[in-house]
Amino acid sequence: MADQQLISLVERMTLEEKIAQLMQLAVPFFEGAEQSGQITGPMESLGITEEIVHNAGSVLGLAGAKEAIAVQEAHLRSNRLGIPLLLMADIVHGFKTIFPVPLAMGCSWDMELAEQSAKIAAREASVSGIHVTFAPMVDLVRDPRWGRVMESTGEDPYLNSEFARAFVRGFQGDDLSGDVHRVAACVKHFAAYGAGEGGRDYNTVDMSERQLREYYLPAYKAALEEGCEMVMTSFNTVHGVPATGNKRLMRDLLRGEWGFDGVLISDWGAVKEMIPHGVAEDEEEAALKAILAGVDIEMMTPCYVHHLQDLVREGKVEERLIDEAVLRILSLKKRLGLFERPVRGADPALEQEIVFCDEHRQAAREAAVKSCVLLKNNSVLPLKSEKRVALIGPFAASGDILGPWSWTGSKEDAITVEQGLRSKLASDMLLTAEGCDVTSVTEQQLDEALKVANEADVIVLALGEDSEMSGEAGSRAFITLPEPQLELIQHLKPLQKPIVVVLFNGRPLDLHGVLDEADAVLEAWYPGSEGGAAIAELLTGEANPSGRLSMSFPYSVGQIPVYYNHFNTGRPKDAPDAQERYVSQYLDIPNEPLLPFGFGLSYTEFQYGKMMLSAEEMTAKSPLEITVSVTNVGEMAGEEVVQLYIRDMSGEVVRPVQELKDFRKVLLQPGEQQDITFILTEEQLRYHHSDLTYSSDAGEFCVMVGGSSKDTEIRRFRLKK
Ligand code: NOJ
Repeated sequence: MADQQLISLVERMTLEEKIAQLMQLAVPFFEGAEQSGQITGPMESLGITEEIVHNAGSVLGLAGAKEAIAVQEAHLRSNRLGIPLLLMADIVHGFKTIFPVPLAMGCSWDMELAEQSAKIAAREASVSGIHVTFAPMVDLVRDPRWGRVMESTGEDPYLNSEFARAFVRGFQGDDLSGDVHRVAACVKHFAAYGAGEGGRDYNTVDMSERQLREYYLPAYKAALEEGCEMVMTSFNTVHGVPATGNKRLMRDLLRGEWGFDGVLISDWGAVKEMIPHGVAEDEEEAALKAILAGVDIEMMTPCYVHHLQDLVREGKVEERLIDEAVLRILSLKKRLGLFERPVRGADPALEQEIVFCDEHRQAAREAAVKSCVLLKNNSVLPLKSEKRVALIGPFAASGDILGPWSWTGSKEDAITVEQGLRSKLASDMLLTAEGCDVTSVTEQQLDEALKVANEADVIVLALGEDSEMSGEAGSRAFITLPEPQLELIQHLKPLQKPIVVVLFNGRPLDLHGVLDEADAVLEAWYPGSEGGAAIAELLTGEANPSGRLSMSFPYSVGQIPVYYNHFNTGRPKDAPDAQERYVSQYLDIPNEPLLPFGFGLSYTEFQYGKMMLSAEEMTAKSPLEITVSVTNVGEMAGEEVVQLYIRDMSGEVVRPVQELKDFRKVLLQPGEQQDITFILTEEQLRYHHSDLTYSSDAGEFCVMVGGSSKDTEIRRFRLKK
């Protein structure tokens, strides 16, 4: 409930002032901004007057304490009622200290790490003047052609939900008003932005309500249950209506059913995009649809400021709706303490001291170590100290390892693989060559690579996609490594020296030509500011890889979408009585992905004992206890992710062949054994039925425990009602 003071503030505002509160503009529009004054053109073309800027409610893109203070102070001088601005920005995986991209963090299966990364990002962002971050992005992703899969934690609704909670906790803490070193979080993109047809960005999403609720909505809901302050709409359609004008999705489901009373912001330009979508004839109709759907803030298009006044006067929009939107925005400002302290955490001295400080970089390094996934290892890793290393490839000495959405970070400050390895190896033990560029290669580069590789005992190739090849509007139809990089591998193969590939990429790739040719492959994703240092620790065995894939790697693009929690079909390929032809299969490739969800190797080996169930039957009152012992039978300490999946053998609607329900990440010393006990409750067996009710079915289930979705022991039990 908003308090009386805010209500009376709204009462004192003119309709024009109220509507301007709903406008979000980029930094250069504002007095006090470093690039202020350069926007006369955009201001004119958007039809934004000075009056609107003075009354605007929020700004996006600020990233520096001095500028933030200057903009806020100038704004307070020009705003009649002294209402402070909300300063928002995309702080997605770190501010200046860049952490691994969210998909990489997803592979850590480590919630404390995720929370810590968001806490540090919030700290750096808040001293630099930011109040709200447009994160976490929790869109469930099944299509690696989509460039934005790197912003998500992966393909599983349960794992994504756990990460959503962890990120929100990290950004917001538990006292947003008292702790100026936290920022408000904005979960996005509501809803199902990750399901665009064909993996093409901004494309149509159409799915059943059941599918939406069962897989796509849980992570947003989890973020809100954790107290996330804001929600951002998505660009796509949901049930034929763009999310930003989708009353059923926003007003009925989000606000009504889920009771969300925080601020709902459109994505950039998404209100006006209802015109090309074809559900609004003009800006006025777009404004009408968005406000009726419940969108409070319009980001970067002027439909609200140009048309809401008339819509109110004509009686098409009740002024009450505007008041409610304004009140929600003012309440957030109040919760952030902006009325008492408009500059909030912005502090140029502290900014100097803590942004990109050693402590934060150390945390980013740890996160990078834990996010890398070892995909293959024919005993070549860890590198032996007496072996001479040839480090070759476009990412060997590149700082382009921060990944998309790291606009506040600096590539120049990133630790490259070469720098990382130089700090570990004697100088004569590390030779380097370019080998090729990301998308091109010359004879000279290949010759030089061959020469350098010839002098070494082991070849380390740093390969991948540059950061422009994924991220927003970064969809790709072919997701192999660029041809010149595959050519480089082929060129060095005849030397018959061990080849280790370290991959930098924003999506699961089709790894043919890499996985089959290399002796070891380490998936580093975009590991962030400390990437090269983390990779050096992993390559030399100072650290042991512990990441597990949170998104399947397809065998080929033709398989997409390919995900572990699929249905069985009526003609499963692997059924004992399956026919040779008339089964659900491809004639030319396997059904299985190249690398499954949950997969990842270690330098040590974990052995699982027999799974023990406390009973063969469970009820709502007597949950099932599942115990398995895990032993580190290798010679190095290592972390295992013990994963628990279930399958409902006969549901009211078809159930997936596997669903992740729980997991435990354990550190085991060599020879150490630990009993891991999971408690499986009736609640965890619930799902959305055909009438959308959420409940469980009595009957037979399978429980599977193991170190990857495809390497499990299976037992059966019954749920009795
Ligand atoms: C568009 C992106 O879709 C969204 O994720 C981001 O927060 C906004 N732009 C603001 O930069």
